[in-house]
Amino acid sequence: MMSASDSRTGSALLRIPLADEAATATLGAAIAQVLTPGMLVTLRGPLGAGKTSLARAILRALGHAGEVPSPTFTLVQTYDTPVGPLAHVDLFRLKAPDDIEELGLEDALDQGVCLIEWPERGADALGEPTLAISLSVTGDTARQATIAGPRDPLAALAAALPEPA
Ligand SMILES: Nc1ncnc2c1ncn2[C@@H]1O[C@H](COP(=O)(O)OP(=O)(O)OP(=O)(O)O)[C@@H](O)[C@H]1O
Ligand SMILES: [Mg+2]
Repeated sequence: MMSASDSRTGSALLRIPLADEAATATLGAAIAQVLTPGMLVTLRGPLGAGKTSLARAILRALGHAGEVPSPTFTLVQTYDTPVGPLAHVDLFRLKAPDDIEELGLEDALDQGVCLIEWPERGADALGEPTLAISLSVTGDTARQATIAGPRDPLAALAAALPEPA
């Protein structure tokens, strides 16, 4: 894992290679450990990159035992978690960026956490993400996660990750 930080802007970057789905689940568990109410987490990457898989891993690690359907058609699925309501959002089918206002995500962020797939379709209105996660496909089961955000939450996340084997 490499990390870099910019003391001038206070932003940081983590690059985490994910060899397989188990590694994605481990990253999800680390993210779950650092979530606090008010956090906005964005998940970018192409179709099939693993955004929903990572969201599922986060919810499992928060103790959610039931299904985690992709919010592709409902746009939002909300879960009760120890860090408040967690809104799992997929904006891929959002018709116009302004339609995001109808999803009630500002209220969700007041009390809990928003995890947003396809934020580029209209999440700008919600402000800067706490964790801006990008997944790229690097092999059959291999993915690369790049996570950007303010230094403190990034440092907390880096500390929650297991040491590379
Ligand atoms: N390391 C990995 N991490 C996550 N998913 C992986 C990994 N390796 C293989 N996969 C597979 O890649 C697919 C990821 O699908 P997923 O629905 O999570 O993608 P997505 O990014 O949410 O796509 P969409 O943009 O359609 O919502 C799944 O079939 C999963 O089994
Ligand atoms: Mg998805």
